[in-house]
Amino acid sequence: MTENDFIPKPYANSVENGRFTWSSPSNIALVKYWGKKKDQIPENPSISFTLSDCKTITTLSFLKKDLSTALKVTNEFSFDVFLDGEKKDDFKPKIETFFKRVETYLPFLRNYHFKIETTNTFPHSSGIASSASGMSALACCLMSLEKELMDANVASSAVEMSHEYFIQKASFLARLGSGSACRSLEGDLVVWGHHDAIEGSSDLYGTRYRFEVHKNFKNYQDTILLVDKGEKQVSSTVGHNLMHGHPFAQQRFNQAHENLLKLIPVLKNGDLDAFIKIVESEALTLHAMMMTSMPYFILMKPNTLEIINKIWAYREKENSKICFTLDAGANVHVLYPENESMQVSEFIKNELVAYCQNGHYICDKIGFGASQLTIEKK
Ligand code: DP6
Repeated sequence: MTENDFIPKPYANSVENGRFTWSSPSNIALVKYWGKKKDQIPENPSISFTLSDCKTITTLSFLKKDLSTALKVTNEFSFDVFLDGEKKDDFKPKIETFFKRVETYLPFLRNYHFKIETTNTFPHSSGIASSASGMSALACCLMSLEKELMDANVASSAVEMSHEYFIQKASFLARLGSGSACRSLEGDLVVWGHHDAIEGSSDLYGTRYRFEVHKNFKNYQDTILLVDKGEKQVSSTVGHNLMHGHPFAQQRFNQAHENLLKLIPVLKNGDLDAFIKIVESEALTLHAMMMTSMPYFILMKPNTLEIINKIWAYREKENSKICFTLDAGANVHVLYPENESMQVSEFIKNELVAYCQNGHYICDKIGFGASQLTIEKK
């Protein structure tokens, strides 16, 4: 597939108004995406666990513009955004940029007025990035509209958009909104970025990891410890850009390829010790890249390090397979196999909660991607 394969043929149908609701989860990378080229093309392949309960639910309502109105004459994107029922004009620039990036692939965008109503299952101020779940949910809603416009329901030429194409294009569009969002459409493991050893992997969209996965990884748990719920000092987008001209960039990109290759047999044979080494090293390397950028920055907080040390001590003492990973922030994702759920929950409550802001943490686990909640169209 190339970008051009996502440019649609003239639409068969006309749709006046309606609305679609999709729910889409967040994801947590095991091998990290950090560094990108033009048009949101990643510098290296990444792989993530799709999450289950941390999700965004988005309703896209649409009304075809009247050709005679001023809106059509100025031919601007026309939309309003609401978070938890409240109008959010500060979200508009990000969506405007997204619309500009995807309009070649969704030529109907300027023909409608959209109302985008969104809500997250996790608190907005939790420091959990909502861009992956948010952009993937919005991409799915837009794809639902494109499907309606495209599906020819004339008996002689009944062509329905395939589920595979729907998800692939939704992932392609989500990537243009926020890179990691393209890994949220499906589960339970998704690869994004071309890797020679993974057939079908692409820089353009995420693909479900199709190799064998050992039962040790089924229903893997992720408890997110909210260490710092504030706004990050450096956004991911700025951080990615600092990989241009970074002294260790090329070695880092090579390492990501190697780590993903090493992960394939580990996921197959269920070797949790080897899994831990790759995952924790990836998290620390991500933050090492931030600390060695110019300008340099640190997103971890003292409590992030306290938690990491506690996890290491617990693992040693209890012979546990618990480990951690980090996103571009101070929060800690605690990963562990399902069979350790009871003991690890106790450990978290007794020893780690003290390092969380207001004692807050979120229990999540591996999930299976986006799902459609409602359809309404005329
Ligand atoms: C550290 O996907 O948020 O979470 O493409 O600029 O929107 P943009 O960045 P984003 O970067 C996420 C980086 C990461 C690692 C990962 O999820 O792979």
